[in-house]
Amino acid sequence: MIEKLKEIKVKALDETQKAADKKSLNDVKVKFLGKQGELTLILRGMRDVSPEERPKVGAFVNEVRSAIEEEIGKKEKAFDEEELAKALASEKVDITEPSKFIQRGAIHAVPMITDKLIDICVDMGFTVVDGPEVETDYYNFEAMNIPKNHPSRDMQDSFYISENILLRTQTSAVQSRELESRKPPFKIISPGKTYRNDSDATHSPVFHQCEGLVVDENVSMADLKIMLSEMMRRLYGEGTKVRFRPSFFPFTEPSIEVDVSCPNCHGDGCKTCKGTGFLEILGAGVVNPRVLEIAGIDSKKYTGFAFGMGIERTSMVLNSIPDLRTMYKNDVRFLNQLR
Ligand code: PHE
Repeated sequence: MIEKLKEIKVKALDETQKAADKKSLNDVKVKFLGKQGELTLILRGMRDVSPEERPKVGAFVNEVRSAIEEEIGKKEKAFDEEELAKALASEKVDITEPSKFIQRGAIHAVPMITDKLIDICVDMGFTVVDGPEVETDYYNFEAMNIPKNHPSRDMQDSFYISENILLRTQTSAVQSRELESRKPPFKIISPGKTYRNDSDATHSPVFHQCEGLVVDENVSMADLKIMLSEMMRRLYGEGTKVRFRPSFFPFTEPSIEVDVSCPNCHGDGCKTCKGTGFLEILGAGVVNPRVLEIAGIDSKKYTGFAFGMGIERTSMVLNSIPDLRTMYKNDVRFLNQLR
């Protein structure tokens, strides 16, 4: 039996030496030391060894086992070290190497114009407020003096969620909410997303507006015109001409539409402004007394004015962008040119 053990030892050590990788080393381990391994199997023969010989043979079995284990252990360690050395070499980082060019992002047209507007309006004493994008029919239409069967609802193709809930078609919905919850005097603006079922070069189903509302005693169209002229001058630049045209909105009376001189040709007429020298940029007017009354505000004592402008539209006019959709492609080269 001793002979047999010696033979196993020699064989095991030899095969350990020859193992070329971790996998074959493990095979050797299983082959000799595993549950069905050669060393384990030979132990069954201990039954036939005489009782006097048994301690000696037993001790030798342990010696052989430790020798094999030790050898395999050493080899395992060598493999691990080799692997680590390889990883260290291949994953080496040269911290002295110059960094690769990282393209920086650009501020998008929407937050850029929104921030400009907020700056201008906060300067003029406005408070910025927010309103829900999923809105009730009441705040979006009804409280804005647009009753259920009013023809003006045709002007806006709405995304309805249920009979009385829709994605707001105008930030004017915030007007209804603020009129209901605030006590005059107040001045608010509310920039945010709006939704209409419309999609072409100048319309997107999701777009942004900024609403403005002032309510106080003795507020008039004259105040609105002065304030808008100043706002447009700050937004579009010194020397911008502002033009007011009569218009109609159910929630303002009288209503106006505001044009600014074309930033591309400064009023001379070009392709951008279709030769007119002006571009339409926002709707506004004196708050319809009906709207104040619906919100429970005394329209004898208080008057107000409101305006609403498209944010994308403002950027398109300011930068002479012919197609709104380029704005959503997020090409940094394009965005970097916007002002
Ligand atoms: N809500 C109007 C629109 O979306 C704009 C507007 C706002 C007009 C406030 C007048 C006063 O077209």
